[in-house]
Amino acid sequence: MAVIIEPFRIKSVEPLFVKTPEERKQILKEAHYNPFLIPARDVLIDLLTDSGTSAMSAAQWAGVMSGDESYAGSESFFHFEAAVKEIVGMPFIIPTHQGRAAEKILFSIIGGKGKYILSNTLFDTTRANIEYTGAEGVDLLCNEGMDPALIAPFKGNMDIKKLEDFIAKTGAQNIPLCIVTVTNNSGGGQPVSMDNIKKVKDVCHRHGILFYLDACRFAENCYFIQKREPGYANKSVLKIAQEMFSYADGCTMSAKKDAFANIGGFLAMHNPELAQQCRNLLVITEGFPTYGGLAGRDLEAIAIGLKEVVDENYLQYRIRSIEYLAEKLTAAGVPVMQPAGGHAVYLDAKAMLPHIPVNQYPGQALVAELYLQGGVRGVEIGSLMFGKYDANMNLIPAMMELVRLAIPRRVYTQSHIDYVAEVIIEVYNKRDKIKGLEITYESLALRHFTAHLKPFEE
Ligand code: F0G
Repeated sequence: MAVIIEPFRIKSVEPLFVKTPEERKQILKEAHYNPFLIPARDVLIDLLTDSGTSAMSAAQWAGVMSGDESYAGSESFFHFEAAVKEIVGMPFIIPTHQGRAAEKILFSIIGGKGKYILSNTLFDTTRANIEYTGAEGVDLLCNEGMDPALIAPFKGNMDIKKLEDFIAKTGAQNIPLCIVTVTNNSGGGQPVSMDNIKKVKDVCHRHGILFYLDACRFAENCYFIQKREPGYANKSVLKIAQEMFSYADGCTMSAKKDAFANIGGFLAMHNPELAQQCRNLLVITEGFPTYGGLAGRDLEAIAIGLKEVVDENYLQYRIRSIEYLAEKLTAAGVPVMQPAGGHAVYLDAKAMLPHIPVNQYPGQALVAELYLQGGVRGVEIGSLMFGKYDANMNLIPAMMELVRLAIPRRVYTQSHIDYVAEVIIEVYNKRDKIKGLEITYESLALRHFTAHLKPFEE
């Protein structure tokens, strides 16, 4: 059979509400042209994020009902710990309320002024948690990953030469840790190869630098390894994941992605002293080490989700459904990051809207237009998210101007995706008429969440 179907059926549904184009115009204005400020009830198809938005399975909901809410030593913690250990093979498993809480704890201990944390590409909260300690985050992505149109199998790879050069220039004593993001969310959801992970690990260990994984989308990454990397075609995704984690000294994880949970995360590691330091902080900010900011029911849902996500029927459907949208758009001429990522389709706003300069935020302008056209909510991953200012307050733009359409796991059907493609193609066909935006309010850190914008005026 050539058709890949959704490997589930629907037991419980939620209604969607359609707004008129006139209503959407008003809503967008009131939200200051920022999708984060649009009430969810006013969105038709919500592709803002794949984080915490998964549909949980019947088995997960059953787990929720049987969650053990004991303060210490809850049975659900032991289920959670065993499920995580089976995949990551590390002895110390520390639950947190989400990924960034794991980052905050890790970097509070590892970071600090004068230090550098290296990555293929740091996600925005990871970078913020590093910079909050006074340390600097450094992205050393391979050149292939910076060309949205280029087709290559592992565009999330770290550049080994850049890594070696950076260590030689800066001195390993100032680099406590290197963290590779799988898949590379901010770089288009592109996977990292096992070969690259091994090489990064070797370089790090040669210099006494800790090697971690930001493992939010580990299963999607491992599915790409199975399909694209020589030597892995006959290995299960679980085995591939176990190998991948075997090279790491530790990992941070947001269970809101590849564990199908609506909340949750964890830190895992080999080093007992570091684990003890992390737990000491955990008690202050998250909770006792056997629940770390989560209810027993959440731990249970994560434990079950981690088993479901390595199912290859699911992963085949998952990766294919993203590819399906990317193919439709590419066939219509829409510039899309190639090849399709694991959790999202990324539109190349710079290529689509060359008449809008980067300081008028072409990605954000495209996000606004997608909402106006069809009530579709995406997010800019470009200069609004990553731009900085120089001493004269001129914008230092991001590497790319992308719009991410992240697909929640097991939530939308093929006809929803067909509708999304239609909306994007309609916007593409009138792209010459789209105008830029300017910022009227912004915060110091993570400004994209709260910024106010308006249509640019000469
Ligand atoms: N690392 C990566 C690669 C992420 O994509 C995220 C979250 C985090 C860390 C932080 O995890 O949200 O549980 O605190 N990404 C979401 C997104 C928000 O939309 O991509 P968190």
